Amino acid sequence: MGFRDKFVNAEKALTFNDVILLPGWTTLEPGEADVTTRATRGVEVNVPFVSSPMDTVTESEMVIALARQGGLGVLHRNCTAEEEVAMARAVKRAEALIIRDVITVGPETTVEELLRLMDEHKIRGFPVVEEGDRLVGIVTWRDVRLAESGLRVEDVMTREVVTGTEETSLEEAKRVLHEHRIEKLPIVDGEGRVRGLITMKDITLKGTYPEAVRDGEGRLICAAAISPFDLERARALDEYVDVIVTDVAHFHNRNCFEATKKVLREVSAEVVVGNIGTYEAAEDCLTKLEGVAGLRVGIGSGSICTTSVVTRAGAPTLYAVSQAADAVKEYGGDVPIIADGGLRNPGDIAVALGVGASCAMMGNVFAGTSESPGRLVAMEGRYYKEYYGMGSSKARKKRFVQDRYSQPSKTIAEGVEGWVPYRGSVSDIVAEYVGGLRAAMGYVGASTIQEMWEKARLALVTERGSEEIRAHDILLPGSNRGP
Ligand code: XMP
Repeated sequence: MGFRDKFVNAEKALTFNDVILLPGWTTLEPGEADVTTRATRGVEVNVPFVSSPMDTVTESEMVIALARQGGLGVLHRNCTAEEEVAMARAVKRAEALIIRDVITVGPETTVEELLRLMDEHKIRGFPVVEEGDRLVGIVTWRDVRLAESGLRVEDVMTREVVTGTEETSLEEAKRVLHEHRIEKLPIVDGEGRVRGLITMKDITLKGTYPEAVRDGEGRLICAAAISPFDLERARALDEYVDVIVTDVAHFHNRNCFEATKKVLREVSAEVVVGNIGTYEAAEDCLTKLEGVAGLRVGIGSGSICTTSVVTRAGAPTLYAVSQAADAVKEYGGDVPIIADGGLRNPGDIAVALGVGASCAMMGNVFAGTSESPGRLVAMEGRYYKEYYGMGSSKARKKRFVQDRYSQPSKTIAEGVEGWVPYRGSVSDIVAEYVGGLRAAMGYVGASTIQEMWEKARLALVTERGSEEIRAHDILLPGSNRGP
């Protein structure tokens, strides 16, 4: 092949802005489409939204909020392994049918220490156990709120504890809690050892979030990011998370593959690999790695990315998803694709689904919600939240993500730092995006996401044409662009 042929054979790396979904024959009413999907081979979700593992986007609060709305949050890794495990643990403790990871206290614990534990774990009652986890009492906020700080738990605890067993059904637990007007029901075995805890709060929450995605034990689902080279972290997280996501800007790399083989062998969580951007990369992930449960696809399209500006390398998310989806068709069977980067609105998500994605990962959109880390900042009468790329100088200062973007010699930033408009709560965003996505599916005539793969037809829009398909020739409030 001559050098000139590189132009002749060049592929079109199309982006969301370049295409439009063509309306198709439909028998659907708007709002009828089913948006349930899979985030990984084994994890089903009720909405196709995943939050980016970035330290301005996803900590425990985001994972909890998104799981309650039916999606999946991926904890960032720009922190110590212990901190990331603590975030995962907090998610798993947020709700459960039976809490297994019960925090208990001893009878000799001081009231002062107890108040500190209540504050630290945000819980208001503890089973009291002696050596060997034997239950001897229960102590709650009501017992200590007026107690002197010099007292010990044994002085204030309730000794007659109402308990349940492994056989206690949820309905029974509810009845007992109500009958005794209590909040917590310790589950004990034949020897009186604490084996779990059922709480009124968990029972109530179950009814509050009908779309929530939970694991087999009724806990909210949680994903977490790792560097493939940090096997220790992967092992530590494995106890708590359902999904582990490799967090590498260019995963199609021999060292990443070798390191990930070890991760895949060691962990029981579902492993999503990425980011990748081409057919060949997806083919290699599916044929050279055993047990991959998902592909994270798209390089350089993120709203904070400067990778393609700095390096002129990248695979725009739309293009990359279509490439990976063809490889999945050929080799992967049922490995879901998570489209990652540059998804701004429900239409972008619909287009990504149309070329084979199962889910959309978003950083920018979720960074603007109440549940993202960081404070609200007021600027010129509007509220914003901080958002920066994980390859930006700011993120790199924390050093834990150095390895995402590069070899040690590379010092150039591949991301920018800034603010995104505040957009309310995760539940507002999810409702808005589900509405928009259902409308898009209605135009296509697809009643499910699988049908989107088959039925969605795309047309190319010219640069001039893209002016016409947005609001035009009208003076909009807050805009200085006239008709
Ligand atoms: P959005 O468009 O939702 O994209 O803000 C989020 C995704 O962007 C990726 N990411 C980066 N890419 N430089 C990059 O080239 C960066 O600094 C950076 N930080 C995040 C990541 O895949 C994320 O999910």
